[in-house]
Amino acid sequence: MAGIDLQPVKGTRDFYPQAARLQRWLFDHWRDVSEQFGFEPYDACVLESEELYTRKAGDEIVGQLYNFRDKGDRPVALRPEMTPSLARMVMARQGSLALPLRWFAIPQCFRYERMQRGRKREHYQWNMDVVGLGHVAAEVELMSAQAAFLRRVGIVLDGNAPEVIWRVSDRRVLQDYLAGLQIDGERFAAVCVVIDKRDKIGRAATAELLVEQGVTAEDAERILDLLELRGLDELEARVGVENAGVAALRQLLDLAAAAGIGHLVRIDPSVVRGLSYYTGTVWELFAEVGTFRRALAGGGRYDALLATLGGKAQPMVGFGFGDVPICELLDELGRLPALGQRVDDVVYPMVEEGFSVANRIARQLRAAGRRVLVDYSCRRFKHVIRGAEQAGAERLLTLGRDELAEGVVALRWLGEERQQERWPIDDFVV
Ligand code: HAM
Repeated sequence: MAGIDLQPVKGTRDFYPQAARLQRWLFDHWRDVSEQFGFEPYDACVLESEELYTRKAGDEIVGQLYNFRDKGDRPVALRPEMTPSLARMVMARQGSLALPLRWFAIPQCFRYERMQRGRKREHYQWNMDVVGLGHVAAEVELMSAQAAFLRRVGIVLDGNAPEVIWRVSDRRVLQDYLAGLQIDGERFAAVCVVIDKRDKIGRAATAELLVEQGVTAEDAERILDLLELRGLDELEARVGVENAGVAALRQLLDLAAAAGIGHLVRIDPSVVRGLSYYTGTVWELFAEVGTFRRALAGGGRYDALLATLGGKAQPMVGFGFGDVPICELLDELGRLPALGQRVDDVVYPMVEEGFSVANRIARQLRAAGRRVLVDYSCRRFKHVIRGAEQAGAERLLTLGRDELAEGVVALRWLGEERQQERWPIDDFVV
């Protein structure tokens, strides 16, 4: 019989301890920052009803769904993103939840994507969302949290050469403009999906796709010209100050400046995001250094999603920040930390007779808050000492026949000096 395939399913990852330590380091930063901003954790099952995603067809994400029927013939899917689950959970308790909500999660998400750098078929995504706050203060708070995280992992944000920037727009800028060209409703959503591809496929191919959506060639050129404007002043001059999107962006810029992140915000109407539920602010985070050119994170305001799903509309805004792209960037910049195992003590009974005493010592040390590994291998001392040093241990406690007979444990401080002491076993009473 042929052996099993040892590779994880295509596009998915195994996390051996080295990778798992890094993941924990990353998630700890995400959790700490979320809590620093007063956000509460929530979670949901990775398996959802398929209809949660297929209601709103047209999004690329729907075509990337890992969906199947369970044994009860229910159409289910592995979540490709957390936002619909959040919307479902909020809807299920609408009326009883005290708004505004500030919730965060680190869900694993599945998308049957074409594999490329920084994009896998499974990823973890830090999500922070605010429910029940219609003001752009929420957006700025969310961006500030992203900035706080980036600073913690060593990304330079201040000074003349920040290493990341946010490209920010408001969908209403484009929506109002396109309404003037008689492109609205479902067609507007479809046009946004096309525009979202522009960065990847270029101007000419985008124009062709727009024409396929029924936009005239002339209007397609007008739209593409608008997308090339940069900064709020240019945009305002083209679409007018009364445009709700422009007004909100102005407010956002003021608040971002006050929050110390204004210099990182680039107003860029070509950012529309690929998900059709966004209704207002949209933003994506990009690296200005290294060779990774895809978004590190993306977010936006989606005030109509609950209504689309059959609930009462509620202002909602949030972001998703993937684990893959940020690690890709940090790795390229040589800024991923070298994390070792974190054991404090290794207890080494050299002979089987010492196992129970070793265990007692370990229990006592653990009760005192130390991380203790008992090495039951009975292998040669030099291997044990090397293993203990590799595990990051500070001390090695050895129990040989002589020690057991004398009622002591030989304690060796590891590191340069390797000093040795002898402690009475009776000191370790549990
Ligand atoms: P998204 O732009 O589809 O938004 O994903 C957000 C982030 O997740 C991306 O910027 C990237 O870091 C990461 N990501 C997405 N797909 C992959 C993949 N195949 N492999 C690795 N990383 C990936 C959303 O998902 C929205 N639900 C975000 C949101 C929350 N909007 C409001 N609240």
